[in-house]
Amino acid sequence: MNQHLPPQNPFRTSQLEENTGPGQNSSDNPTMGELIAARFSRRGFLKGSLAVTAIAATVSPIALITADNARAATGSAFAFDEVEAGVDADHHVAAGYDADVLLRWGDPLFADAPAFDPLNQTAEAQARQFGYNNDYVGYIPLDGSNDHGLLVVNHEYTNPHLMFPGIVEIVEKDGKKAAEVAALSKEQVDIEMAAHGMTVVEIRKTDGKWQVVPDGKMNRRVTADTEMLVTGPAAGSDRLKTSADPSGTKALGTINNCAGGTTPWGTVVSGEENFHGYFLGELPADHAEAENYKRLGLPGGSYDWGNVHDRFDVSKEPNEPNRFGWMVEIDPMDPTSVPKKRTALGRFKHEGAESIVASDGRVVFYLGDDERFDYVYKFVTAGTYNAADRAANMDLLDEGTLYVAKFAEDGTLEWMPVVHGQGPLTAENGFASQADIVIETRRAGDLLGATKMDRPEDIQPNGANGKVYVMLTNNTKRKADAVDAANPRAENAFGHIIEIAEDGGNFAALTGKWEVLLKCGDPSVAEVGASFSTSTTANGWFGMPDNCAIDAAGRLWVSTDGNGPKETGRTDGLWAVDTEGEARATSKLFYRVPVGAELCGPVFTPDDQTAFVAVQHPGDEGENWEAFGRPSYFEDPSTRWPDFKPELPVRPSIVAITRQGGGKIGV
Ligand code: FEO
Ligand code: CA
Ligand code: CA
Repeated sequence: MNQHLPPQNPFRTSQLEENTGPGQNSSDNPTMGELIAARFSRRGFLKGSLAVTAIAATVSPIALITADNARAATGSAFAFDEVEAGVDADHHVAAGYDADVLLRWGDPLFADAPAFDPLNQTAEAQARQFGYNNDYVGYIPLDGSNDHGLLVVNHEYTNPHLMFPGIVEIVEKDGKKAAEVAALSKEQVDIEMAAHGMTVVEIRKTDGKWQVVPDGKMNRRVTADTEMLVTGPAAGSDRLKTSADPSGTKALGTINNCAGGTTPWGTVVSGEENFHGYFLGELPADHAEAENYKRLGLPGGSYDWGNVHDRFDVSKEPNEPNRFGWMVEIDPMDPTSVPKKRTALGRFKHEGAESIVASDGRVVFYLGDDERFDYVYKFVTAGTYNAADRAANMDLLDEGTLYVAKFAEDGTLEWMPVVHGQGPLTAENGFASQADIVIETRRAGDLLGATKMDRPEDIQPNGANGKVYVMLTNNTKRKADAVDAANPRAENAFGHIIEIAEDGGNFAALTGKWEVLLKCGDPSVAEVGASFSTSTTANGWFGMPDNCAIDAAGRLWVSTDGNGPKETGRTDGLWAVDTEGEARATSKLFYRVPVGAELCGPVFTPDDQTAFVAVQHPGDEGENWEAFGRPSYFEDPSTRWPDFKPELPVRPSIVAITRQGGGKIGV
């Protein structure tokens, strides 16, 4: 039994993301989420779990489900036959589309990389293969092509109970099945570290089908051990110095890379999100970093890495956590380039960093800090984007201004500078310089009175309509006396989406307006208070918005994390959400994932003919596993997607969705 993990949930799962944050509520009162969950149980939504067992035994990898119950919303920007919501072992896409698995965990990325051998995996092999739990996906066209480009993928975290044979033991406890997970060996830890980070891989579409170019010159793996440079205000700070790097300017590796963004100059920025979980040990209570680490939940103790690598034990290397929690910029066009941790964008549990060029040429990055009651930020570069000279943009992320958002009750928005010397961000409050500000960005936001949000995830500017879309996953810890206009529901189990309009249509503006586009959840359950349009079908609503994409036509697509048989009677998926006119707040289900998975990284090629999506942690039932009657683990997973072969484990994978016979998606 891994004693570092919470006893009620021995499997490391995406539940790790649901940190309680500063608003932790230790009361035993049932939450709205629990009340709604009980209602779903009563309404028989758990029948989906029975289907899993049946389908897992006789599964067909081709299972397209069509539904003709999709009512056309007046003025909808989308046209496709909606998928039927539900829970089973396979993925499903709208009729007339193909959802082809392009890249699986363990796929070789280099001509000399070994084939995937799950019973004999090594760290060396993993470092040459596609990593685990794909999240962000960026598409970089090569020579402007829609059929030939680089995919840049984040590998957020690892699920050892689904990766490694022989580490889970099923025992009986109080008459119920329970799982115990063995501590990992050093080799297994090293495999985990090699399965983290990022992948750059060349892909090409031939005869309508995407394929990996196995000897692509730019193919690359970045892992938890890849050397990186620290740049910007925190570079060289004493607080980043360690025994391995007395300069405070280098970092080893990147971890928990969640969402990200592709910059106008074709680099990718990748967010280090729940980095606190990788650290073990204890810091003396009077240590200078004690308050900093407490605000971030450090050390989180969810991984075994600190048992075999001293730098992940804060009692041995107390400054190491300050080298994580940044946005990392990588140039996928140069496989020898050193990734850079861009500290000007602040240090917190970074979700994504989608960007847009403002009217004056400066570049604006929207940033979410994904924890309950944490903040929305944006970063505006000091310099302007130079479309004619790529090299001139390569250090734009080192100089600029970080802002944190205050969403006022009257629907206005203020972006407050997170700048040393301004307002309370002074030496009297413990900030000697901008380095201290960016290292403790959350505390700076606290002092500025930023609005405590319901878990800010992806934030997408939309150049087509001038708006910005903020995904807020959920926050069941918000009390009725702590709601505000921007976070209007107590015990917000299903999340919401905010739409921002920056003043003057200028993305770099310091003020704006905002409104709630959508309160998520089942609109047929009055207590939920969802606000989907009445044209939205029983398949079309969703909970827990996480990632999103704006396609070339300016339409919003939302992917989710946290739907399941217990929560919403459906798996996660990709929903098309209207934002304009009469159809506004209408949602339709386009694609759904196999049981246990969440959906990440939707991205469209510039011609809107391919959507790449990342199916993350399939087969991971997390705290839901009792709903399936048994734990899901390597030897007995709830699905063996995508291969459905008894000798292969369930594998997180990238899927390419295209229209049969070609053409734009969703029109
Ligand atoms: Fe890793 Fe906030 O999702
Ligand atoms: Ca996410
Ligand atoms: Ca997520």
